[in-house]
Amino acid sequence: MPAVQWFPGHMNAARRAFAKALAAVDVVIEVTDARLPGASGNPMIEELRRFRNRPCLKLLNKADLADPEATREWMTYYNAQPDVLAVAVSAKSLSDVGRIPTLARQLAPHRSGAEKPLRLILAGIPNVGKSTLMNALLKRRVAKVGDEPAVTKSQQTLDLGPGMTLTDTPGLMWPKIEHDADGFMLAASHAIGRNAVIDEEVAVNLGTILLARYPASIEARYRIDATGLDGEGLLEHIARRRGCIRKGGEVDLEKAANVFLTDYRTGALGRISLETPESRQRMLAATALSPPL
Ligand code: G4P
Repeated sequence: MPAVQWFPGHMNAARRAFAKALAAVDVVIEVTDARLPGASGNPMIEELRRFRNRPCLKLLNKADLADPEATREWMTYYNAQPDVLAVAVSAKSLSDVGRIPTLARQLAPHRSGAEKPLRLILAGIPNVGKSTLMNALLKRRVAKVGDEPAVTKSQQTLDLGPGMTLTDTPGLMWPKIEHDADGFMLAASHAIGRNAVIDEEVAVNLGTILLARYPASIEARYRIDATGLDGEGLLEHIARRRGCIRKGGEVDLEKAANVFLTDYRTGALGRISLETPESRQRMLAATALSPPL
């Protein structure tokens, strides 16, 4: 896979900004994608918040698209960690979002009242749903107070209601992709730019994962017997079935990749998670064992 563009200068600037902002907050709300919570987490957020002893409300967002069983496993995994409270949410559900302030309060009970407002910071890699969440949190606030100009915005810190503020992510926190498997999962889930990786490769990789984890969904959607099929074979099948054929009669795998990725991204294949705590452990162990290039 071609390397994803990564600029150390941007990374350092984001790191500095986040470290600085952490000094003045009580709880970190880290947003991840519930379909790939490990790959969509940012180790820098984890490292800095631990250094500063800040508790973390870990939101497994887009839970409406993820496999509920895998999400349960991830929540058990994260909730066993000190100073972490993990919950599955959909930023598109106002009732899910409505639970967030109370959950955040549980992590810093010593902060209460106007003198000691609970100060939250929202962090996460691009595309996990931070803006959607922020808007939903603010909408609730606006709805609650009626005509009052509720949203006071100063230096990216927003008033979330009595005794609670929310600071927006300082700078863009692109994921530092250390494992190819993570890069593929992120690309399939739209978390990294289209031009960074080739759709066909991403689709073949996604096919391999889904054939192993959700063969029945693949069989139902594309009317195929998935026994013995690999990612490339699946893509060729999709190309034929969906009429992705070039002028000379050759299959158009790029087009088929697009069909397949769109089906996954829109939830047409059902609720899917690309990794579980166990599969991630296996991937990390295998990577550690493979000799350096
Ligand atoms: P960001 O600020 O972290 O970069 O993410 P943003 O809120 O912009 O959300 C990225 C995409 O994810 C948006 O889709 C948004 O609607 C979708 N999204 C956010 N939260 C949820 C959720 O809980 N469930 C579902 N199903 N979708 C969610 P988009 O604008 O259509 O863009 P794209 O998905 O086509 O890239």
